[in-house]
Amino acid sequence: MFRRLCGTERLLSIIWGTGAFGVSQGEHMITGKPLYTVNQIQDRVKELACAISDDFKGEELLVIPILKGAFMFASDLVRNIKVPLELDFIMASSYLKTDSTGDVTLHYDVRESIKGRNVLLVEDIVDSGVTLNYIRERLLQKRPASLKICGLLNKQARREVDVPLDYIGFEIPDVFVVGYGLDYDNKYRNLPYLAVFKKENKEG
Ligand code: PRP
Repeated sequence: MFRRLCGTERLLSIIWGTGAFGVSQGEHMITGKPLYTVNQIQDRVKELACAISDDFKGEELLVIPILKGAFMFASDLVRNIKVPLELDFIMASSYLKTDSTGDVTLHYDVRESIKGRNVLLVEDIVDSGVTLNYIRERLLQKRPASLKICGLLNKQARREVDVPLDYIGFEIPDVFVVGYGLDYDNKYRNLPYLAVFKKENKEG
């Protein structure tokens, strides 16, 4: 039996199906060009989860996604990790629109005990490395048994602070990416694929 799609659903299914989007906003044209498809992302997430499961065989994990950006990646990742785990969250931000501010604001801190546990930090994108470095240093002070980092996207060209990444989904060039949890001005996080974001004047 077929279910009828309502107007918004139909529009979204068209947009999502192409892996690209274009939106007119006042004087600007906003476009998203495909970077990684739903299938490419899901395949890579499974590979990462497999590597993590192998490395922590016989152990337990405390998985800590860094919100908001990592929410979608982390939810897919933990569904594929085969060792026992618990979840906690950290919410931090460092971006103002498309430019990094360089300052990290911690909105929500972990509630679970960290001491003596195998911690896996999950990040959507590592850009300057400032956010991750700040959070890593903070957690190391709580003396975990181990602290590993899993980042979906690594933008090495923009690195300002050296931070060790144990698991990397994709190496990407210096482009602004939205979708699969990543935003522009808190929008586009719900796209199931990753797209390169551009905001241009219509006049050109
Ligand atoms: C983004 C992203 C990373 C950070 C990466 O978060 O999710 O946490 O920036 O940049 P950096 O390596 O230069 O520190 P953002 O501050 O936009 O908050 P969000 O996760 O709520 O989108």
